[in-house]
Amino acid sequence: MNRFGTRFSMSTFGESHGAAIGCVVDGVPAGLVMDTDYIQRQLDRRRPGGNAYGTKRNEPDAVEILSGVFEGVSTGAPIALVIYNRSAKSKDYENIRNLFRPGHGDFSWWAKYGIRDHRGGGRTSARESAARVAAGAIAQLMLRELGIAVEAGLMAVGQAQAARLDFAHAAKSAIFALDGDAEAAMKAAIEQARAQHDSIGAVVAARATGMVAGLGEPLYDKLDGALAGALMGINAAKAVEIGAGTQAATLHGSENNDPMTPEGFESNHAGGVLAGVSTGADLELRVHFKPTPSIFKPQQTVDIHGKPAECAIQGRHDPCVGVRAVPVVEAMVALVLADMALMNLGSRMDHLKAIYKERGCNDS
Ligand SMILES: Cc1cc2nc3c(=O)[nH]c(=O)nc-3n(C[C@H](O)[C@H](O)[C@H](O)COP(=O)(O)O)c2cc1C
Repeated sequence: MNRFGTRFSMSTFGESHGAAIGCVVDGVPAGLVMDTDYIQRQLDRRRPGGNAYGTKRNEPDAVEILSGVFEGVSTGAPIALVIYNRSAKSKDYENIRNLFRPGHGDFSWWAKYGIRDHRGGGRTSARESAARVAAGAIAQLMLRELGIAVEAGLMAVGQAQAARLDFAHAAKSAIFALDGDAEAAMKAAIEQARAQHDSIGAVVAARATGMVAGLGEPLYDKLDGALAGALMGINAAKAVEIGAGTQAATLHGSENNDPMTPEGFESNHAGGVLAGVSTGADLELRVHFKPTPSIFKPQQTVDIHGKPAECAIQGRHDPCVGVRAVPVVEAMVALVLADMALMNLGSRMDHLKAIYKERGCNDS
């Protein structure tokens, strides 16, 4: 429901036009230095209004930590984070109060709950993903201590595709483009969609480096399964590929298997996961996002009584959700890895002995 994770977990709350959004992150080991500047920087990368290629809604997304941190360090208690909504313009949604936006969650959530906060999509809005980014930043801080880094970038916008995945370039690009040579074409595709009162789909690629082998809980919490579930849970995500992904279905085994050497794997079609457990190779994945459902072109719809109507959407919307989804993908990957890292601690007696012996316990 609104809680994610087993050992390293987050529960999020809030709506697009409510007072605030936020989360409670539980299971963070005590003693993690809480770099609040880093958490805020991650939020700034996702924040609406921070980017000429995103929505014009301009939120400061300033995060406040309410609990679980003492003198800059996690205490082991739940960490509550809140982000106040400052730039909601609810009157923009008045004309669709009783209409269902095609492609959005308005109809399906109405069918489920029989009540709907039409302002900005309520809880179906990706405004909630700010809370994921805040929680994900804490997961990244923990992973960083283990030498694991999670990065993501924009691999494609419509037909404009990156020919290489340059994560260093993505880190400094306004749209997180993974290929400097494809960036202009990606920006042009977004600008053109916006100018045509339309939207456009995108692909986000992510990787985790410094991986350890052994993360993933077979059989029903396999690492690839958990990643796919977490990433498909992001608004507008329509497909997740790990390693060679769908391409693997077109290959022979002799092409798809990654040869093993004493130095490690020679290739990475597996994307760093075999039988649901990390191999120690880089984790490599892609998430495919559909075009933003709220477009300014008139569309055919029905009202809550089932009567035909024309939907003329106003307000402020991302022309390409894939851009601001980049930090959200990073956050979800980090949350899964942090959770798996904690769960993995009990997988072997020698791990347990190492932990408890360090604390002065003996073998008997
Ligand atoms: C970062 C991000 C920003 C988004 N911005 C918008 C937006 O401005 N307008 C909109 O209609 N949908 C936006 N979406 C997508 C909707 O939230 C999503 O399509 C909707 O909840 C329906 O869910 P589904 O597409 O997963 O079926 C955004 C998604 C993400 C990840």
